Amino acid sequence: MATDEAIGRVLLTAEELDRRVRELGAALSRDYEGKNLLLVGILKGAVFFLSDLVRQLQIPAELDFIAVASYGSATKSSGVVQILKDLDRPIEGRDVVIVEDIVDSGLTARYLLSSLQGRNPRTLEICALLAKSEVRVVDVPIRYVGFEIPNEFVVGYGLDYQQRYRGLPYVAVLAEP
Ligand code: IMP
Ligand code: MG
Repeated sequence: MATDEAIGRVLLTAEELDRRVRELGAALSRDYEGKNLLLVGILKGAVFFLSDLVRQLQIPAELDFIAVASYGSATKSSGVVQILKDLDRPIEGRDVVIVEDIVDSGLTARYLLSSLQGRNPRTLEICALLAKSEVRVVDVPIRYVGFEIPNEFVVGYGLDYQQRYRGLPYVAVLAEP
């Protein structure tokens, strides 16, 4: 991986990510055994986490994807969310887990929960790789959290800054631009 001055200190190594994703996979496998699990990945950031997570499941699971745009500055969300690509299929009666890369203010998560709840899934939960609990603006219930992280802008393992750095195999703090 090429070095880049914009990449600051590493917060989570590839090994730490791998270990935690295995634990989350085991937890989901226990909790959704015998259920009708549908994992809904939030494009694009959650794709990396989701693809590792689904390979750790010991139960069947289907995948679908939704793409949202949340307006705001480069590093801050405004809470105004728009669906760019919707789910392919209805989720009525399904056990749905929304898979997110990161919950920051919680505004995107809250929007997704209320939007998907209106489609009558049997159950609906959120699984987020990262959560910045310090800065949560709205109180959304997050059933599964990989890591609580400090209030810093991070990149890598799916997370981007202006569409860059998603492919880093670790999570690092973005150095001051
Ligand atoms: P929220 O609506 O404030 O919770 O922010 C949700 C979205 O903002 C996430 O799905 C990310 O796309 C983006 N985001 C928030 N914090 C970070 C970060 O530290 N790095 C990269 N993207 C972030
Ligand atoms: Mg993003």
